[in-house]
Amino acid sequence: MTILVTGGAGYIGSHTCVKLLEEGYDIIVVDNLVNSNEKAVGRIQELIGKIFPFYRLDVCDVDALRKVFQNHQIDCVIHFAGLKAVGESVSKPLEYYSNNLISTITLCKVMKEYGVTCFIFSSSATVYKPGSSMPVNETAELGCTNPYGWTKYMCEQILRDVALTNPDWSVVLLRYFNPIGAHESGQIGEDPTGIPNNLVPYITQTALGKLEKLYVFGNDYDTKDGTGVRDYIHVQDLAQGHVDAVNFASKTTGCEEINLGTGIGYSVLDIVSTFEKVNGVKVPYEISPRRPGDIGTVYADATKASRLLKWKAEKDLEDMCRDSWRWQKQNPNGYNT
Ligand code: NAD
Ligand code: WQD
Repeated sequence: MTILVTGGAGYIGSHTCVKLLEEGYDIIVVDNLVNSNEKAVGRIQELIGKIFPFYRLDVCDVDALRKVFQNHQIDCVIHFAGLKAVGESVSKPLEYYSNNLISTITLCKVMKEYGVTCFIFSSSATVYKPGSSMPVNETAELGCTNPYGWTKYMCEQILRDVALTNPDWSVVLLRYFNPIGAHESGQIGEDPTGIPNNLVPYITQTALGKLEKLYVFGNDYDTKDGTGVRDYIHVQDLAQGHVDAVNFASKTTGCEEINLGTGIGYSVLDIVSTFEKVNGVKVPYEISPRRPGDIGTVYADATKASRLLKWKAEKDLEDMCRDSWRWQKQNPNGYNT
């Protein structure tokens, strides 16, 4: 079975490529490298000892995409390609709407032309309306607070409509919670450009001494220690969830929204203390004001993934902290080390 992986040079895509290859799938990767490094593709090939086709192209470019479908018999598409920085999406809404929506629409059009009917989409817990009760399940009300979130919301709706009018299609909308961690080899991992926005890359760069200290955004939330609580999930578990989604989608039709989370919430200070403990390093921090747009607690009801995909997160917070640190230590400047 051959899977087209868009955004396969990125953080979650690269880990998923490794898992797919390990499980015997053939893959084709397309990525325009707007937020990634071609070296990630080389690392995947080294880890598995297998060469696969890589096309540097923009998924919004219909002609370039058609060539890929002409050259290869594709059975299923996993669509990771997209812009993902929440803050940047507020200052550049048109870039986010055009990239994330047009790439998804273009992909669907070309899939239709070539009779490919299996689509796995990278959605996000950010589509849930703030104020939902936790753990949040897939039937909760949707609503977003920033353009990035709306792009996921809109792509989900586009894909639901495509599945409705094309009854032979199988679409899985995977709503990820907070992916962290890295491949156990330390060879692939998250490589953010500039100062990280997300908690764990900020922690790893602080532990390395590249950043002076972590700013903990608020300690007055209604949580056990006042700091924000999230459902952190190991990127390797997330990657396995995609393989399971491909298996599921290849046997079914229709459209399913599925949370990928652990069902457990940890606070910012839980992450800091676990990271310090398992890695034997210090993470200096300072409590600072809340980050605008943040909410106190988000964690998943992951029972639907277990029921439909037979998937469950296997790794714990210690694994996540250990693996994130190994990647950062071995690659202090990411793929450009
Ligand atoms: P990433 O930025 O590391 O990977 C995305 C990849 O897509 C990058 O390699 C980028 O170069 C590529 N890309 C972007 N636009 C493209 C285009 N038009 N054509 C071709 N390639 C393009 O991000 P990630 O963390 O691996 O996230 C993967 C997907 O999962 C994204 O859609 C993201 O929105 C979604 N997601 C991520 C998180 C998270 O916290 N990391 C959470 C929920 C959902
Ligand atoms: C986690 C916790 C912060 C940084 C984002 C997107 C979401 C999804 C995943 C794509 C929060 C706190 C953070 C820092 C801190 N991405 N924090 N100091 O905001 O839960 O989710 O990534 O779909 O859409 O919004 O993740 O890692 O930024 O924050 O105290 O320097 O860490 O307040 O409680 P978030 P995060």
